[in-house]
Order: sequence, then structure tokens, then C-alpha cells
Amino acid sequence: MCGIVAYVGKKQAYPILIKGLHRLEYRGYDSAGISLYNHNRLNVYKKRGKVADLEAEVKDKDVSGTMGIAHTRWATHGEPNQINAHPHYSQNGDLALIHNGIIENFQTLKKELVKQGRTFYSETDTEVLVQFIDYIRTSNSCSLLDAVHQALGQVIGAYAIAIMSKEDPHTIIVARKGSPLVIGIGKNEFFAASDATPIVEYTKDVVYLEDEEIAVLTVPAKGKAKMEITNLKNVRKVPMVKKLEMSLSNLEKGGYPHFMLKEIFEQPKTLRDCMSGRINVDLNKVSLSGVIDHKDKFLKARRIIIVGCGTSWHAGLVGEYILEKLARIPVEVEYASEFRYREPLIYPDDVVIAISQSGETADTLAAVKLARQQGAFVYGICNVVGSSIARATNTGSYTHAGPEIGVASTKAFTAQVCVLTLLAMALAKEKKTLTKVQLERMIRAMHELPEKIEIALKKNPGIADFAKIFTYSRNFLYLGRGCNYPLALEGALKLKEISYIHAEGYPAAEMKHGPIALIDAEMPIVVIAPNKGNHEKIVSNIQEVKARKGRVISIISEGDTEVKGLSDFYIEIPETEEFLVPILACVPLQLLAYHIAVYKGCNVDQPRNLAKSVTVE
Ligand code: AGP
Repeated sequence: MCGIVAYVGKKQAYPILIKGLHRLEYRGYDSAGISLYNHNRLNVYKKRGKVADLEAEVKDKDVSGTMGIAHTRWATHGEPNQINAHPHYSQNGDLALIHNGIIENFQTLKKELVKQGRTFYSETDTEVLVQFIDYIRTSNSCSLLDAVHQALGQVIGAYAIAIMSKEDPHTIIVARKGSPLVIGIGKNEFFAASDATPIVEYTKDVVYLEDEEIAVLTVPAKGKAKMEITNLKNVRKVPMVKKLEMSLSNLEKGGYPHFMLKEIFEQPKTLRDCMSGRINVDLNKVSLSGVIDHKDKFLKARRIIIVGCGTSWHAGLVGEYILEKLARIPVEVEYASEFRYREPLIYPDDVVIAISQSGETADTLAAVKLARQQGAFVYGICNVVGSSIARATNTGSYTHAGPEIGVASTKAFTAQVCVLTLLAMALAKEKKTLTKVQLERMIRAMHELPEKIEIALKKNPGIADFAKIFTYSRNFLYLGRGCNYPLALEGALKLKEISYIHAEGYPAAEMKHGPIALIDAEMPIVVIAPNKGNHEKIVSNIQEVKARKGRVISIISEGDTEVKGLSDFYIEIPETEEFLVPILACVPLQLLAYHIAVYKGCNVDQPRNLAKSVTVE
């Protein structure tokens, strides 16, 4: 989704803004632009394509100035071209604005502005917003801040904006509602961005703007920099300064060809971080602070409703199997986008779990707000610290996977499943639905999991070898049973999003009810077939595939000669507890998708049309 960076201070803004845009590239975008204040002018440069294309475009242009705003656009209103790219400027060129989100009533506002004689050059809602602010400012002869206040008070929709005026070379105004915005506080300088990645290099002191807040960031020629925050009701707010936990090395590839591969290989560490302080093998303890503090809510819960989107929804489905089996609590899993609009029945004794890597997904955030309005207790499982969903929930647990830059989620997924498993174990302990011995076994198996992931990662060269054979496959089927069925969905999603090969995930037994018609000698079928659960049933499913000459790629437990013998290709993973297989077996699926996409020459880290954090519905 769109990325915002802004800078006001004493340094040259251009290098900071361009670097910031590069850091935001992972979010997904199709054009980029920048505006810099220089000698009473707002220079605006924009380009369709990548940030590198924008850099080439401005190579011989004047990019000096100590205040500027920059943007990567993920097209919503109007095609991705130079004209629709941000920043957008007012008719007289006095104001420049960047925006993430959607102004839903932009057509109504536009009609009014046209009546007032305003003309428009783009198809965007953003141009309408900047013209609207400028219209209020000029017709009421008020300050830019007043105009922003009045305009945003009339806007319906979501926004994070940064705006500057050629009349004030020292001030940038930023605001948010529904879309994220972080302000970085440097030494006599301010940064603002959609997330902390463009900021962390310069400062660790940040303020997360809340919904309907407007911040005026001023760095005068002489005297001290100041930040003033008000909300739409004009109430002054005291900025809450927080310390960033991320480090710069998290945002670099560290010798790997792609972020995705780096993130796949980080999983032993991310899982250790996720479990750190939460399980103790010696004391046979499992605890999650979010649960300890609100134990009653969970123990009295009539049911748990899990909401999320994409990969996070898949993690929720794995969680459903684990929570129901270990903690014996009924669980329902819903796409957040469906949940929010179908007038769901929510009771005060429901616990809603919202899962989101970014913590900014618009549908999941809306589902959280709805659940809270209806009186449910909401627990968040987020990766990004301080994100909107993390703040909108009653309580929660961070996944501690560190920044995930590859658009295809990898380490965040395994960390989400890890938190859900810890949650199920903690509740099972409280409810005594697991015996002491069973719990001990689970805790030990969790503790050993990162080491087993390391073993699974050693299969990477072998996977890379055979993945080549499938470069030109057009369809894939992924099959799994029990808690490995959602993993089949996740494996298929990984492949389709980065290689553009059509892939579907199915519960293995469902194959007979339709997908079996697709199977022929061309069709690769990935089967998650660990030596656990209904093993003999999945062996029969594989035989059904082989009888139709399908090509079987199996994920098997070490030493399983039976499935090995039936498979065209197999990847061995170490033995573990049944409910930990989804975390472990996910690794070869991620690697398979990765290598196929690389052989196909796809942009693995930034797949076409996709955004890392979907901040619009
Ligand atoms: C995962 O590979 C996807 N890119 C996507 O499905 C993602 O999981 C989804 O958009 C939800 O994002 P969130 O976890 O940040 O809420």
C-alpha cells in the first residue's frame, strides 16, 4: 500500500526522502513522487514505476531543500501513471500533499469544487483533498492548519497525509485516520512516515499519531523545533514519545539475495524470540502475559472468534485446530472482511482474537473495532509493535518476528502459529485439559522446535534442485489433513503470490469431491504427510493421486519409507508433536515457492499488484 515519508529540518531532504522511499518499497507500489520546498517554490517530481525510475528522472533536476514530502503509490483511484502519482498539488501550486488511504466522498467534494471553478488534472481522490484544503484556506482566509482541520472534519474515509505550503518553509502538517503514521523526533528535525522503517536510521524516538489527530511539525530557522498535536475536535494532545525497538540490520538483506530468503532462514531465531520468557522447560511452565492478566476472560469465554486476512487467516485456522484440541474451547475463524459486514452475533463473553503481521490491515482493524463496540474482549496477535491493531485491542501478545520486508509472509506466519500454540497450552494448563505429562511433552517439543527448523532449512539445496522442474507448471494442488490443511492453503498462497502460478489448497479427503478431476501427468501435487494424525488416510490420498499419474511432492517425517516410495520428490522434516507440524512443515513449502519464483524470474520480494500492508478495504 502507499508509503509516506516527510522531512523537515536542517539537512538536505532529498537523500533522506529517497532512502525512505526505498525502505518503504516492500509495502508494494506502482509509482513514486517527491516534492521539495526550495526558494518559495514547491518542486514536484513524479514517475510511474520504481523509486529508482524516479531517481533517474530527477537526476538533472533541482532537488535541493530542507523540507519535503515523498510517496510511493499503490493505485486505487485511477491507473498507475505519472499524473495520478503523488504528491498532488493545489491549482495555484501553493500546497503539496501526499496521502495513504481512500477519501470515500471525493466525488461529492469534487462536484462542489468544480462548481466553485476548480479544475482537476488527475483521477485521484488525493487531488480532491488538496484542492479542498486549498479552497477552504483561500475562501476563508484562514491558516493552513485551520483549513486542514475543517477539511478533515468533512472527509469520509481513511487517510494518513502530509502537507506543506510554499508560504511556510519550516512546517509540515501530518494527520491520520485509519491509516498509520509515525513521527520521528531528531535533533532539530522531524521525520514522518507510514511506518518506522524510513526513520529508524536517524532516531529511535517516535510518536504514533492516533486516529483523527493532526500534528504540526515546525523547525524554524532560529530557535527550537516544536511539535503540536490537536485532534479534530481541536483538543490539544501531549505527544507520547516511544522508543523504537527495531534496528537497521533488520531492514537489510544481510548477504541474502532476497528478503524473503533471509526471513525464511531467520525462523529459528524468530521462534526462539517468540518463545523467550514464555516457556520454561526446566520449570515446565508456559505463560503469556496477555493471558495471565485476563485469565478470567479466556476461562469464561463461550467461544473464541479469530479474525484475520490472508496468511494471518491461515494462522487462525491452524489455531482453531490447536485451541479446540488442547484447550477444548469452541473456535470460529473468519475473514475479517466478511466478519465486519455481516452483522455477526457477538456476545460479551466472546473472546475475539485479531491476527495481523502489520497490525494495520484495514479490514482486521475494523473487525476489532466492531467486536469491541459489541462488548467482546479483543486479544491481538501482531508483529509490528505499536501498530494500530495492537493499540486498538484490549490486550495481546506480540509475535517478536522482527520487521518482515518480503511481501510474502513467512517468519510472521510461523510466529503467529507459535503464539496461538502457546496460548492453547497456557489455557490447557489452566483448564487442566492436558495432563501434566502431556503438557511437559508439548513444552519440550516447543523448546526443540527452532533446532528442528534449522534441520529443515538444511534441505534448501535439494529443494532448489528439484524446484527447477516446476518452473513451467501452470497449476499446483496442495493437500493436507487436520491442522495441516490450513498449511496446504498457506503453501498454495505462497506459490501463487510470488510465482503467479495458480495453486489451490484442499483438505486431502476433499480431493475426491472435485479437484481430482484436475489430476493428470502434468499436475504437481504437494502433500503434507507427516507421520502423525491420520497418516494412513493421507497415504491413501497419495495413492489416489498416483493412480491418476499426478506428480507427488511430499513433506514427510524422517525415515517414512512408505510415502517416500510413493513420491516423485520428497522433503524430510524431523519428527515433532502433531500440533507443531504446521510450523515445521511450513519451511519447505516456503522454500519451494521461493525457488520456483526465482527460476521464473519473478520479483520475489515485491510481487506484482501486491501490497505488504493492506490499509484500504
Ligand atoms: C501474505 O503472504 C500476504 N501477503 C497477505 O495475505 C497478508 O497475510 C494479509 O494481507 C494480511 O496482512 P496482515 O497480517 O498484515 O494483517
